[in-house]
Amino acid sequence: MTSSLEHSPRAGARLSRRVSGIGSMRLAELMRLAAGIGAIDIALGIPPGEPPAEAVRAATGALTGGRNQYAPPEGLLALRETIAELARRHRGVTVDPATEVTITCGATEGVLNALLAVTDPGDEVVLFEPFYENYPGMIELAGAVARPVPLDGPGWRLDLEAVRAALTPRTRAVLLNTPHNPTGRAFDEDEVAGLLDLCARHDLVLITDEVYEGYVYDGRRHVSPLGRPGAAEHAIVVGSLSKSLQMSGWRLGYCLASPAFTAAVRRAHERTTVGAPGPLQVGAAAVDVAGLADDSAYFQRRRDHLVDRLGELGLTVARPEGGWFVLAAVDTLGRPSDLLAEELVRSAGVLVAPGTSFFTDPAGGRRWMRMTFVRDEGRTEEALDRLRNFLSGGHHDR
Ligand SMILES: Cc1ncc(COP(=O)(O)O)c(C=O)c1O
Repeated sequence: MTSSLEHSPRAGARLSRRVSGIGSMRLAELMRLAAGIGAIDIALGIPPGEPPAEAVRAATGALTGGRNQYAPPEGLLALRETIAELARRHRGVTVDPATEVTITCGATEGVLNALLAVTDPGDEVVLFEPFYENYPGMIELAGAVARPVPLDGPGWRLDLEAVRAALTPRTRAVLLNTPHNPTGRAFDEDEVAGLLDLCARHDLVLITDEVYEGYVYDGRRHVSPLGRPGAAEHAIVVGSLSKSLQMSGWRLGYCLASPAFTAAVRRAHERTTVGAPGPLQVGAAAVDVAGLADDSAYFQRRRDHLVDRLGELGLTVARPEGGWFVLAAVDTLGRPSDLLAEELVRSAGVLVAPGTSFFTDPAGGRRWMRMTFVRDEGRTEEALDRLRNFLSGGHHDR
């Protein structure tokens, strides 16, 4: 079939600088290749479970019961109350659902709104490298400029001196993800409080992406800037029901911030998406967050299993403190991770994420490969068997 829109040689010349600078996601290209081959995906953090049954029931009831139109832009109050309960449970803080919570279309829109709320074109945003692969493009979309600061390897500690050294008169914000994708760090009190303090002293806004806040291991507690001195003036927190309630397709996330920041976030939100899908908000609001089982012990077991199996394959892996990913060093395997990832898709039928997606200069990520421990257990086991065969020079049956 020939599309009537196909012949468009001059459209490229009309693109904005804003989008032209955003590279296509390297991982997305591999995903297309993997889908064509039917490879097992242990690259992406797609939730393993189903959303809570009461959420599905309530959303279905809304869809079939006539609650199909716009919700209030800031989100249904009932869902904002649910999010306030989540903030109490995971962050130990009280937030006002009326003025301090905004429902967004996923954390993706939440981070973008936070950036739009506090940066002007040309302003600089410090982010930590390696980073969640979407951040540079989001900063660029906001018209701001990304200033990567490396996490201090091999423990991936947050180096406040390095942050200080990266500040310029144009710096407006610092973007931190904790627990961290891809390294698995759950930044500690010293790091988070120190960073908030630094932001307060330099009059910056700390935007924290805390989508994995419910997944911290070995008895740790999630550390958020929220509730600490200076947070009202200097912090915007972003979360996601994609991870917290395992409903990534519902595209529900949120921002938590002081009333002044919340008002600004809502202005951006009303001009980007207006609001998140109403019937799905009705569904999510039906979840009794206080009564939810804590499944971090299950995820911790899955983490340990993946770390142990990768260790048996001779890969060096730091045990993640939180989140859904393991970052393995692959320098013993004799080729850079981008080539290795492509070879793994083609020859072993396994999709992993090459570390090159998480660094401004892909060279920085060539010795790293990211895998998730949250996907289907049987398929993950099969992927690891294929990986073992591949590394021992064998073939696999697909
Ligand atoms: C660190 C981080 N932030 C944001 C997201 C996206 O969240 P959402 O589905 O709520 O847009 C992800 C998804 O993997 C993530 O890992």
